[in-house]
Amino acid sequence: SKALTISDLLAMKNTGEKISCLTAYDASFAVLLDQAGIEVILVGDSLGMVIQGHASTIPVSNEDMTYHTRCVASARKRAFVVADLPFASYATPKSALKNAARLMQTGGAQMVKLEGAKFEVIEFLVAQGIPVCGHLGLLPQSVNRLGGYKVQGREPAHAQKILEDAIAIERAGAGMLILECVPSLLAAEITRNLGIPVIGIGAGPDCDGQVLVLYDMLNISIGNRPRFSKNFMANADNIADAIRRYHQAVKTLAFPAAEHCY
Ligand code: KIV
Ligand code: NA
Repeated sequence: SKALTISDLLAMKNTGEKISCLTAYDASFAVLLDQAGIEVILVGDSLGMVIQGHASTIPVSNEDMTYHTRCVASARKRAFVVADLPFASYATPKSALKNAARLMQTGGAQMVKLEGAKFEVIEFLVAQGIPVCGHLGLLPQSVNRLGGYKVQGREPAHAQKILEDAIAIERAGAGMLILECVPSLLAAEITRNLGIPVIGIGAGPDCDGQVLVLYDMLNISIGNRPRFSKNFMANADNIADAIRRYHQAVKTLAFPAAEHCY
């Protein structure tokens, strides 16, 4: 079947079909995800933790991201490929353009993702024809400022700020938004208020789609699996079956369950 575009994902939001997304960092997993019908493959800078063994995503370089994006993008046929701009690689519109262009030209990414309320950078990239995915809530690249990996937007004022940032990110031209580790009610309100697809991770059942770190849902990541994730290997015959089960669980709203939400 033909390669998916941002228009296909937007149509899914509008018809209410849940979008399934997983991370991948290499060709073998990209093909497995593609064959399972996963619509979006995120080449996340989580590779700094699950591939490189670092304690955070901060050490990841644009060269690392480009290499892994190339491995994924050249192998998959149908899934839409989003690649993370790593830590400090989009401090200015100019540096963001240089690094995003590399992820697309050399890496083969169809969209780039960046963390936080970087409206000016988003607007600039979009004006150059670069599709951008925003990322709000828990921002792993800011873990040292946030003081750990914890739920964001529990207090009303903070929730309001995240909602306003989400609306401004759409207005700046972003084509998609990731919401990480926020209360389900806030994620539902943001999803209702935005015209672009909203993909959640630890953000409850009412987002337009779900994403997990592949190695977490296969139960092979280093250390503890986050509470919002789920071990899909538990009842699966093999890795391909676990990925199919995840895809099915997202489509039928069986995942996320209450225990995965805030
Ligand atoms: O890097 C990553 O895997 C991500 C997801 C957690 C959304 O950004
Ligand atoms: Na990331």
